[in-house]
Amino acid sequence: MAKINCIGILTSGGDAPGMNAAIRAVTRTAIYNGLSVKGIYRGYKGLVTGEIKEFKSQNVSNIIQQGGTILKTARCKEFTTPEGRKIAYDNMKAEGIDALVVIGGDGSLTGARIFAEEYDVPCIGLPGTIDNDLYGTDTTIGYDTALNTILDAVDKIRDTATSHERLFFVEVMGRDAGFLALNGAIASGAEAAIIPEFSTDVDQLEDFIKNGFRKSKNSSIVLVAESELTGGAMHYAERVKKEYPEYDVRVTILGHLQRGGSPSAHDRILASRLGAAAIDAIMEGQRNVMIGVHHDEIVYVPFSKAIKNDKPIKKELVNVLRALSI
Ligand code: F6P
Repeated sequence: MAKINCIGILTSGGDAPGMNAAIRAVTRTAIYNGLSVKGIYRGYKGLVTGEIKEFKSQNVSNIIQQGGTILKTARCKEFTTPEGRKIAYDNMKAEGIDALVVIGGDGSLTGARIFAEEYDVPCIGLPGTIDNDLYGTDTTIGYDTALNTILDAVDKIRDTATSHERLFFVEVMGRDAGFLALNGAIASGAEAAIIPEFSTDVDQLEDFIKNGFRKSKNSSIVLVAESELTGGAMHYAERVKKEYPEYDVRVTILGHLQRGGSPSAHDRILASRLGAAAIDAIMEGQRNVMIGVHHDEIVYVPFSKAIKNDKPIKKELVNVLRALSI
């Protein structure tokens, strides 16, 4: 196996709080182990356009507490084509980059997998997404911070919902995954969650209304995961207006504020561990794996598994929410 001297690092897809902590950890662990590091700007786009800069330890000073990503991020069309990836590979070689660390969600890791297969480039993925939808890791970088942001928002909505005795549908992110909605609902004391994972099994609106929802309360908050499968918060508000006109309904869509903010302690520690483990993995000769944490241990998850297997939602959590919202 060719000796690895220089690591390229990029962030791709939706930003997530803790990405900077991961960039810092990768950079410093690499330098600590005698490797050099190059920062690639705007995700795969920077590989294609050659926006690449050498990173020293000072380049990642004072960023552990910052949300977003100092490397910027993008979703890159060119990189989805063989021609684009060829340019990316040539730029990478011209820059002397021997291995890549890609921080992002399933789209970003899919890009890494294809690139690694086509050009035999060692690629290591770090799960960076607020959606928590990568298989093989208990949580992803940014998920905990986004959950806490949701709590903060729902706590505030609760005040006005209670005062006006209203039913609120609060739409949260997750792109076809219900982790933010379900755990956000449990943690904020919301009355119900509507998530894509169960949208084909039951009519979730009818389910919780028929099951005695609001029996002992005047106001309620329902978290809805954004997704074409659920139809989103507006869809349910419209339905309630028609089917249960006795409720005074309002909608709040939390949107991109869920992606911002200073990362929580959990996300900073997770990102630091994963970033350091990425360099360990490269030095051990690992390639084409996502680094995750499972049962508090570092694990290597092949890209194909991390991306393809749908991460299951625990039915137990649904039962907890149902029991606690009486
Ligand atoms: O994957 C992260 C995420 O925030 C999803 O939850 C959401 O569906 C999507 O990105 C939004 O993407 P964009 O920033 O391109 O609007």
